[in-house]
Amino acid sequence: MQPWFENAKLGIFIHYGIYAVDGVAESWSFYNGHIPYEQYMKQLDGFTASKFDAEAWADLIEKSGAKYAVLTTKHHDGVALWDTKYSDLNVIQKTPAKRDIVKEYAEAIQKRGIHLGMYYSLIDWSHPDYSSVYEGGKVPEDLSTANRFSSPQDGIQDEERWQKFLEFNNNQLREILTNYGKVDLLWFDGDWERSAEQWNLPAFKEYLHTLNPDIIINSRLQGHGDYKTPEQGIPITRPEGPWEFCTTINTSWGYVPTDNKYKSLNQIIRMFCDCISMGGNMLLDIGPREDGTIDKRQEDILLGLGDWIRTHEEAVFGTEEGIMTRYYLGGSTVSKDRKTLYLFVYDDPKENVCLKGLCNPIKKITVLHSGKELSHEIHGGVPWFNIPGTTWIHMTPEDTHEQVTVLKLEFDEELEMYGGSGAVVTHN
Ligand code: GLC
Repeated sequence: MQPWFENAKLGIFIHYGIYAVDGVAESWSFYNGHIPYEQYMKQLDGFTASKFDAEAWADLIEKSGAKYAVLTTKHHDGVALWDTKYSDLNVIQKTPAKRDIVKEYAEAIQKRGIHLGMYYSLIDWSHPDYSSVYEGGKVPEDLSTANRFSSPQDGIQDEERWQKFLEFNNNQLREILTNYGKVDLLWFDGDWERSAEQWNLPAFKEYLHTLNPDIIINSRLQGHGDYKTPEQGIPITRPEGPWEFCTTINTSWGYVPTDNKYKSLNQIIRMFCDCISMGGNMLLDIGPREDGTIDKRQEDILLGLGDWIRTHEEAVFGTEEGIMTRYYLGGSTVSKDRKTLYLFVYDDPKENVCLKGLCNPIKKITVLHSGKELSHEIHGGVPWFNIPGTTWIHMTPEDTHEQVTVLKLEFDEELEMYGGSGAVVTHN
């Protein structure tokens, strides 16, 4: 996998589509029968993108501190945001917008050196050939449980139509991967409705690599992806290998004006710290309005997060997973050379910040945003058995940052943490 991904730390997810016209849930609103399909598709007439300015998006993404962006080029509803030759269900032919959103997005993003990501739904609930087979090729016992958008209604599967659908996906993906400059990341969604065999894996992945050998592919590919994508709930234990946590700012992926359940800036920054403390990235979602503008509350979160990241850059980029919370009750990261430990202080300390199991002598402790040097004392420990004492770093509320405070601890040697039963662990 290309090394840029694990160093990126923050990406911005963009759910943009016709669902923003009425402010309903992307695709799921008709799939789950909340509104009729016809009513959902009527939103095509209202999708204007009249104020869509890819430069403004890219500018905001850059200011957020993100190193990559991922745009929904096509959600499960099958509406393509680009000028696809393979279906007229696209915003150029079917909406008053009449512009290639993907093209403008890709150009603006690449111009700023932000890594270019494309979300593509494997599912297409509008394509006539999609609902030709059942999941895993198994006809359900109770046919009434089969959703008409994803499966046949009569128990009869048509393998030929399914093959035609796969060809259609291959063609659309070729357009996305070859018409818009170099795409860095493909973010698949919806693999769950078909088996690996039905998606023609691993041959499908090989096909994508022939179009772009450097492409990074998320995990939603029936076990054939490059990194894991936990969604909406921050993992409690670190997922194995590279990973990314995707999350909404309120509770909706797309623009839902009635959804006022917003996370605060502080909560978002803490969530971000949680992710990087466990060696992961955060993919933070925005849902632009149908005209392409972005709700101020979402914009403010991105700008606030960006301010925090810029102030604390060295604790974010070029760092790795931090130490376990049994050493320090908070988040942390470690520099690549392992000679600096960054502690995230989430709350106001009473008089000290406590760190256990540190074997290294501390050269210097600074509050990252102010540069103020902090003193510390060590209590306890059994030097003749190399059992370290507890480090108490003197810190009071006046030393804190208004969001999350970062303490920088410098050492002469690589960080060593005590293993508990006499062992010294150098990592974690
Ligand atoms: C879920 C939803 C989808 C959304 C995605 C983002 O898979 O099906 O609507 O786009 O999460 O991660």
